[in-house]
Amino acid sequence: MNTPHTTHHTLLKIGVLGAGSMGSGIVQIAATQKHQTVLVDLNEEALNKAAANLKNILARMVEKDKIDQATADVIMGRITFSKNIADFKDCDMVIEAIIENLEVKKKVFAEMESVVSHDCILASNTSSLSIASIASACKQAERVIGIHFFNPAPLMPLVEIIPAVQTSEATTTTSRALIDSWKKVTVLAKDTPGFIVNRVARPFYGEALKIYEEGVADFATIDWAMTEIGGFKMGPFTLMDYIGNDINYTVTESVFAAFYYDPRYKPSFTQKRHAEAGWFGRKTGRGYYNYAEGVEQPQPKKDEKIGKEICDRILVMLMNEAIDALFLNIASREDIDLAMTKGVNYPKGLLVWADEMGLANVLAKLEHLFAEYGEDRYRPSVLLRRMVRENKTFF
Ligand code: NAI
Repeated sequence: MNTPHTTHHTLLKIGVLGAGSMGSGIVQIAATQKHQTVLVDLNEEALNKAAANLKNILARMVEKDKIDQATADVIMGRITFSKNIADFKDCDMVIEAIIENLEVKKKVFAEMESVVSHDCILASNTSSLSIASIASACKQAERVIGIHFFNPAPLMPLVEIIPAVQTSEATTTTSRALIDSWKKVTVLAKDTPGFIVNRVARPFYGEALKIYEEGVADFATIDWAMTEIGGFKMGPFTLMDYIGNDINYTVTESVFAAFYYDPRYKPSFTQKRHAEAGWFGRKTGRGYYNYAEGVEQPQPKKDEKIGKEICDRILVMLMNEAIDALFLNIASREDIDLAMTKGVNYPKGLLVWADEMGLANVLAKLEHLFAEYGEDRYRPSVLLRRMVRENKTFF
């Protein structure tokens, strides 16, 4: 990319491949940020649906006086819909958001590279695949990078920027500057399973499920503990019902496999059975809760002592995960904390929260669990031990 382009982001033409929920959200952001955009999908119906959805979203923004009709028309006018990858030919960056399948992604990356100019950046919005393997499909692998948005892309501020081992410094710098110019909060993450958010957040679901399976408390009580005592916007079971147990289970399983079956990421039978039963959550009317009309929701047992134990157990597991991510240089301490507050709305960054709880307390709680269960799952991060020994804090 030449210099004028890097300093005037609005001049760039942006391509998006895949007109599903993520692709149409990304195209909406880019067009709103004054870019000419091309949205390509092989499926005509998906394109029509995306166009109709985008029109509706803009119409609602006009109704709410967030933008005027003329602006809505201009934004819509900046988007070209196409079934042909060749229409990416003048793009300065293409962001891919198609089906989560490595073979398919590699095929389209090679195809995209054959039509774009030699300085076009090719990015993937993948949540779980390795950027290095996607990049390996390209002759100029240094132009390939991960740019991971969160759902819904126009509303969630966080974007993870993931350079692969092959990615050039220039590709990373230009990509991050562009997404920053879209008023997003960018964090830099290593190309490892789950990047930052989908790795560090695993215990929020996994430990909650384990607590339930042990019979410590029911779904409603665990959710109550995490919202009322922990200050989280949503409890883990309510959140899993939102995300969908099918999707959340698949992510857990793929992170587990990608970490060579590290027992820390072991999936849960409770969630597997819910997914198998078709109890995905809100979208199917039933998950951990029953969303049918008129059904009374179960009430939590508001025992403060048990609530605090549940909350502390999930929290120290989350903190340990964040600390271990820092230990393994997955991201900087600032970015690890930003990722969890801006990507999944945690009330506080986990590292700053660990400082507040006292690192010696965090370690003591983990060591207690480790001794009690004798499971590798509860092993405290080496970095946490060192910090406590040296009497240090993260911030
Ligand atoms: P989706 O299923 O809503 O949309 C995928 C679209 O890609 C469909 O319209 C489909 O017709 C199209 N497509 C499939 N193969 C294609 C091909 N070869 N060429 C052109 N178009 C093709 O999927 P969604 O949820 O938007 O996810 C897309 C990507 O974003 C995946 O890699 C996913 O892992 C990732 N992602 C998803 C998030 C989510 O919460 N849904 C969050 C962050 C990333």
